[in-house]
Amino acid sequence: MLVLVLAAVLLSVPAGLAPALANGLAQTPPMGWNSWNEVRCYDLTEQVVHDAADALADTGMRDAGYRYVVVDDCWQAPARGADGSLQADPARFPSGIADLADYVHSRGLLFGIYAVPGSRTCAMANDAYPATGIGSLGHERQDAETFADWGVDYLKYDWCNADIVDGLDRESAFRKMRDELARLQRPIVYAISEYGFSSPWTWARPVANLWRTTLDLTPDWDSVLSTIDQQAEVAAYSGSPGGWNDPDMLQVGNGTLTAAEARAHFSIWAVLNAPLFAGTDPAKLSEDNLATLSNPEVIAIDQDFAGSQGRRLSQNGDAQVWGKPVTGGGFAVVLLNTGTTAMPVTATVPGRWTVRDLWQRADTGEADGTVTATVPPHSAVLLRLTPR
Ligand code: GLA
Repeated sequence: MLVLVLAAVLLSVPAGLAPALANGLAQTPPMGWNSWNEVRCYDLTEQVVHDAADALADTGMRDAGYRYVVVDDCWQAPARGADGSLQADPARFPSGIADLADYVHSRGLLFGIYAVPGSRTCAMANDAYPATGIGSLGHERQDAETFADWGVDYLKYDWCNADIVDGLDRESAFRKMRDELARLQRPIVYAISEYGFSSPWTWARPVANLWRTTLDLTPDWDSVLSTIDQQAEVAAYSGSPGGWNDPDMLQVGNGTLTAAEARAHFSIWAVLNAPLFAGTDPAKLSEDNLATLSNPEVIAIDQDFAGSQGRRLSQNGDAQVWGKPVTGGGFAVVLLNTGTTAMPVTATVPGRWTVRDLWQRADTGEADGTVTATVPPHSAVLLRLTPR
């Protein structure tokens, strides 16, 4: 009975939730690598992407689930070709995008690319990337067809102030590219990004497979925490099949995040059923961070929707508890310490459970109604509770 009460809290969904985009893709949260978080703009080359594909295969990350290799902003030549088609920057992608997609496919991976609905990509606005007219505005059909011809499997379509610069409306601009992708023979996962400004979780389910819920995640603890805070209200809108809240790509391995902070970040992304895009060079990951990104039991939580994305169950000072149901009648629970001193964190979990610590990868005992762990500063404990 008490188990049912916990399940009811976790499973409550808003009335009238629209069905997700029916393209049959991203039935579980997509996983892969994206160039932006580490490489950003000017260091992006085809060699970087080749190396990432090789490293995903060689480190075992591909086989752990990281399938999509996504080239983010700054791959484009400064202008369209004579026929109006998008061109790859000839200095940085001398072999062209189709060749790069072939290489990625030859490594047993899938290939993704970045475009925008307006006239300017974000790097043109933010980093003075020297280009003109390379947004898809007025070229939506042509660009979708180009992507399909090149062998693209995943499109990140990024807002970049298209309301201010081009007077576009978000929902209709994102629908337009959805409809162009739907005409193609090629299945292409559709990821949209407008940073949560217009509450896309309320309208994007029939539009895209995933939608960003926040501004860009930066590689530091404060950004991880503020992003986590913003996920507390949106949990009810995510879900299988094929419509996911996206709290942004992973920063594991970047910036100032310690190994423990990276595990906490990954723990929360896992219970959120977040898309998991590594944003660092997989060949240079520390042993700790590679183990974090590759932990099969944590990835299994991320990939297991089981009726609800995770949500915050309690918050008391620096102690937070997040949880979600898992297949088989159990729950995943994160005990998070956001503060600077170790402290006990307790989750109320009505029922009787066997407890497994997914970072220790060990069964750690039994729980009856509550479960407590002493959590080090800036850290999380991730538990899987199985009914007894
Ligand atoms: C925005 C997006 C980032 C990245 C950059 C590229 O900031 O949110 O994820 O795509 O644009 O310029």
